[in-house]
Amino acid sequence: MTAVLDGIGTAVPRQVVTNDDLAQRLDTSDEWIRTRTGIAQRHIADASTATSDLAFEAAEALLKTAPGSQVGALIVATTTPDHLMPGVAPLVAGRLGLAVPAYDVQAVCSGFIYGLASAAGLIAAGIAERVMVIGAEVMSRIVDHDDRGTAVLFGDGAGAVTLRAGAPDELGAIGPFDLGSDGEHARQLFVETGGTRTPVVDADTQRRRFLTMDGKQVYRHAVRRMTESSQQLLDRAGLTVGDVDRFVAHQANLRILMAVADRLGIPPERRVSNVDRYGNTSAASIPLALADAGLRPGERVLLTAFGSGFTWGSTLMTWPDLQL
Ligand code: ACO
Repeated sequence: MTAVLDGIGTAVPRQVVTNDDLAQRLDTSDEWIRTRTGIAQRHIADASTATSDLAFEAAEALLKTAPGSQVGALIVATTTPDHLMPGVAPLVAGRLGLAVPAYDVQAVCSGFIYGLASAAGLIAAGIAERVMVIGAEVMSRIVDHDDRGTAVLFGDGAGAVTLRAGAPDELGAIGPFDLGSDGEHARQLFVETGGTRTPVVDADTQRRRFLTMDGKQVYRHAVRRMTESSQQLLDRAGLTVGDVDRFVAHQANLRILMAVADRLGIPPERRVSNVDRYGNTSAASIPLALADAGLRPGERVLLTAFGSGFTWGSTLMTWPDLQL
């Protein structure tokens, strides 16, 4: 069976932090952030909101547009789980009243594409007929708010979709997939402490619990991997860039998006971006962009993502006729 998308919902925290807000306490400026990243503002969760709260809100929004439909499994893509254990997915399933298989995938900014692939696998294997996939992050909790190099880039949010068993020629059909990783670069986008390798035990490990990034290396690899993965996927599907109506890449920053689209030869009017309003929301960025893009039924969408690991992944879909 092919996985077919049949619902989408999103949630972002109410609080908006603009570049000017950041410039009041960091040595940065609206002009620097806009020209280097395309970001104008981001939504930031309050102290009482965790990733499962945003994931639950996105799931509720989704279920309002597709009420009464049975969900047979739930996958949450996140790199900012509420706890080291259990995963976020069982927490969300519990709040939704779903006694179904529920687990997290951790592929950082590529997580949503990995989640879609995992859901497509559950459907193909006959394990579930309908799977909810949620990308949800509270990135603001792992960012060092005193580091201007990373604090300006990230935002919080969640996006949820449902996939059901269907046929490859239906609107909403997803696939094939191209997925990859290269662990050699793990430390170039990294949270060093807080796991089992280096637990947080003292002031020193406490200081190293935030995300660090080699921005130039990440930029270079992100452009290369998303371009190559998209091209390999199109080759596998027997399609060309001319067959792609809309291009939805992980919303890391505008310059990365534009560089990938330029290399692939995707014209400006087919590129989707909302990074100006949300910043980089990691695993949540693709569903937030899909929900925002004004996609029309039947449009063929190319999705691609790159993240810490490094990991990357791409897939194709036709946009379904959703009542949003
Ligand atoms: N405000 C003002 N100045 C800053 C800021 C800031 N927020 N951040 C860095 N700078 C300074 C640097 O300190 C440096 O100053 P120096 O020359 O005195 O040392 C100067 O600006 C230039 O820094 P660069 O790192 O060379 O800036 P660059 O043009 O490379 O842009 C950026 C930095 C935007 C981080 C870029 O490298 C990039 O886009 N990298 C990809 C990062 C990314 O998107 N990561 C997201 C996670 S990965 C993912 O989701 C795919």
